[in-house]
Amino acid sequence: MTEEQIDMELIREAGKIIRDGGLVAFPTETVYGLGGDALNPLSSRKIYAAKGRPSDNPLIVHIADQQALSSIVGEIPGNAWKLAERFWPGPLTMILHKSDRVPRETTGGLDTVAVRMPANRIAQEMIRAAGGYVAAPSANRSGRPSPTVARYVAEDLAGRVEMIIDGGDVEIGLESTIVDLTSDRPMVLRPGYITRQDLENVLSEVEEDRTLMEADAGQAPKAPGMKYRHYAPKGEMTVVKGVEEQVVSYINERCRECRDAGRRTGVIATDETLSGYCADVCRSVGCRHDEEAIARELYRILREFDDEAVEVIYAEAFDDSGIGRAIMNRLLKAAGHRVHLV
Ligand code: TXA
Ligand code: MG
Repeated sequence: MTEEQIDMELIREAGKIIRDGGLVAFPTETVYGLGGDALNPLSSRKIYAAKGRPSDNPLIVHIADQQALSSIVGEIPGNAWKLAERFWPGPLTMILHKSDRVPRETTGGLDTVAVRMPANRIAQEMIRAAGGYVAAPSANRSGRPSPTVARYVAEDLAGRVEMIIDGGDVEIGLESTIVDLTSDRPMVLRPGYITRQDLENVLSEVEEDRTLMEADAGQAPKAPGMKYRHYAPKGEMTVVKGVEEQVVSYINERCRECRDAGRRTGVIATDETLSGYCADVCRSVGCRHDEEAIARELYRILREFDDEAVEVIYAEAFDDSGIGRAIMNRLLKAAGHRVHLV
C-alpha cells in the first residue's frame, strides 16, 4: 500500500495482532520497524527474540499523537516540547525519563525511554490501531543493515512475525536521530537526517556523544545499541579517506591483491568514480554531493554485497558534516572503524 492509499482493513488487522501480543513489521520514513505493544512486556520479549537482539538494548516507543507522550514519560522538559513542535512527526527520537506505564522489558532495564512520532502515514494509522504505543526497533535481524524495503524485512524475519506491511521504499534510509534530554545538556546519541545544527537552531547548545565517530573514545556509547557492530555486511570492510584519484588507485591495488589471493572484492563508489574501479562488484551510492540519495542507497548496497558473497569491501569516505555525519557514522560502524588514509 502507499501513504496516499492506505488499506484500513489491513491496518485494523495489524492493530489487532499487536494488541493481542503479536508482531507486525511496518514502514516508517527512516527504515522499516518491527512493531509490538510497547506496554506489554511479553511483546518486547518477542521482539528481542525475533531480532536475535540482546535484551539490554532498549526499544524506541512510537506514538501517533503528542498527547500520548504524557502517559509514558514522567516529567516532560520544555526542550522536549520545543523539539516535538519543530520535528514531530519526523525522524527524531527523544530520550526522556519513563513513567511506570512503560515496562523495563521495553527499555532494556533503563529508567529512561526513547520516544518517536514517525511521519509515515501508514505507521501513524497502524500505531493508532494498535492502541497508541508501539515498540519498534529496525526490522532486521541483529547485526544486519536496517531494511529500506519490505523484501529485506522478509529476508530477515519471514516466519518470525505475524505480518509485514509493504509500504514501498522508505524516504530517508537511515535510522532516526536520537537526542538525550535526561542530562544537563541535550546530547546526540545517534546522528540522523535531523542534524546537530538543526537541533541547535531550536535548543542553542547540543552536544554529541564522542564515541560516535572515534574508534577508541575510551568510553561506552550512551545509546546501548551503538556499541554493537550493527549495520555490518558479512564482508570485511575498510573505509578509505583521501584525495579522489589516490583513493581509487589504492583501492584498485588492494582489489588486485585480493583477487590474486582468491578473495571476492566489492567497492562502494560514487557516480564520479564508479567506472574507475576493478573490483568484482562495484556499486555507486549516487552522486557524491547528493547526501540524501547516498543515505537512501547505503543499506541496500551493503545487503547486495552480502547477496553477492563479497568477502572484502572498500568504501570511499564522505564529508562528515550535515547528513554526511549519519552516513559516515553508519559506514564506520559497518567497517568496525577500520579506516585507511591515503
Ligand atoms: O528510525 C528509527 O529510529 C527506527 C524506526 C523503526 O523508527 N528504529 C530504530 O530502532 O532504529 P533500533 O531499536 O534499531 O535503535 C534504537 C536505538 C538503539 O541504539 C538503542 O540502544 C537506543 O536507540 N535507545 C533506545 N532507548 C534508549 C534509552 N532509553 N537510552 C539510550 N538509548 C536508547
Ligand atoms: Mg537497529
